[in-house]
Amino acid sequence: MILPKRVHHSISKRKLKTKKFSAGKTIYAGEHARLKGLLSELGKVRDDLANKIHKQMDELRSKNVQLKNVANKQLKSDEEIHIRTLAMESTADGIFIINAQKPEFPVIYANQAFHTMTGYLKREITGQNYFSVYGNEADNRVIDEIKHTIRQGRTFHGEMISFQKNGKKYWNLLRIAPVRNAIGTATHYIGIQTDITAMRAKEIEIDEQREELLHVTRVGKLAEFVSSLAHEINQPLTAILSYTQAAQRMFAGREPELQEILSYIVHDDQRAAEVIQRLRSLLKKSKSEIKTIDMNALINETMELIATDATVKSVFLKAELENGLPLIQGDRIQLQQVLLNLISNSFDAMDNNRGAREIMIRTTRKDTGTIVVSVKDTGCGIAAEDIPKIFTHFYTSKPDGLGMGLSISSSIVDSHGGRLYVENNPDRGATFYFTVPITKGDAS
Ligand SMILES: Nc1ncnc2c1ncn2[C@@H]1O[C@H](COP(=O)(O)OP(=O)(O)OP(=O)(O)O)[C@@H](O)[C@H]1O
Ligand SMILES: [Mg+2]
Repeated sequence: MILPKRVHHSISKRKLKTKKFSAGKTIYAGEHARLKGLLSELGKVRDDLANKIHKQMDELRSKNVQLKNVANKQLKSDEEIHIRTLAMESTADGIFIINAQKPEFPVIYANQAFHTMTGYLKREITGQNYFSVYGNEADNRVIDEIKHTIRQGRTFHGEMISFQKNGKKYWNLLRIAPVRNAIGTATHYIGIQTDITAMRAKEIEIDEQREELLHVTRVGKLAEFVSSLAHEINQPLTAILSYTQAAQRMFAGREPELQEILSYIVHDDQRAAEVIQRLRSLLKKSKSEIKTIDMNALINETMELIATDATVKSVFLKAELENGLPLIQGDRIQLQQVLLNLISNSFDAMDNNRGAREIMIRTTRKDTGTIVVSVKDTGCGIAAEDIPKIFTHFYTSKPDGLGMGLSISSSIVDSHGGRLYVENNPDRGATFYFTVPITKGDAS
């Protein structure tokens, strides 16, 4: 806008000069040409300016778009960080981050669950030595192992006993992993810890129950064994007594020394018979506790007990339990003993299996009054001529077997009004079946 004014000014000066030294038309034509030149220069300048303005406008527009993108990205990443933080704060596992480059491994972040689990407040933990949260009584060997792992930049996964701020003990499942920078140095560690005290208590309870059941089974077998043994011994003892008493009668009034010896024999024989009698009455089965039982629930419980054994023995334990099975009346410990005997026989039968080791437990309703439980395995099966023998006392094909499992199981099933029998499978292995009558009134 200033430029045209300056141009106008210089034209008027020139006009004056021309008027002084030149004449008429020539002066006018010269000026006209100059003016034309100036105007075209002016046009160029204007076009340049317009181009520059367009260019700058375009640049501004693209910068604006870029800025908007950056702002959007920032907004998105702020949102993501917010969600991540919220997620970390909401989880039930204790999450923490420690600085791995400082010798005392200070905590730089810990979520709410971590504070709840350890009993320490945020201000009591942030910036403090991470290992102080384990409590003074924590196992130093484990702590040293974790420190060593961190110094080496490795991961750690383990269970340990930790102590809350108030001294309360808890089982801590700890997993820690390094956070590395661009050149691979572990600058920080992120850790997750879970309070597994309840889980541990359940495991201990299951272990105890299993031990108890195995003990009951062992004691049961031993009791039957001793009981049979006592019966076997009782017969010769009775025979000794009657022979000795016959001798006493034969030598009555004679041979006082022999009479004395005979009376000792009678006395000791009677003592032995009494001991045996006491033992038999002691080993007599206590009265069974008959209660209403859900067979499917009992099987599930038994499978839980045997699950660890199955894993150790690489056996795949499966169940197909019929829904809505009616209840039965029985002694749960005894019926569980039958299941355990059958399952442990199946384990033994599959000991030398190269292929699949599978046990399938099924329950079905045979008819309106009976349910059938079957235990099918992929073991060695039973030779046809051995089938009648396996249910008898002391029949065993195992070097360390007592041969009592099936005979005890058979008498338990009998006492419940059912039947225990076996069939070889068409492909491989055997299936043991036992029936149990359905509780009256439930046989709908
Ligand atoms: N599932 C099975 N597969 C193949 N054979 C079996 C099976 N179950 C039992 N037997 C055979 O029947 C025999 C008798 O079984 P039982 O459980 O009565 O005694 P055991 O297992 O030998 O000894 P114990 O029960 O005292 O530990 C076994 O030794 C085995 O030969
Ligand atoms: Mg057995």
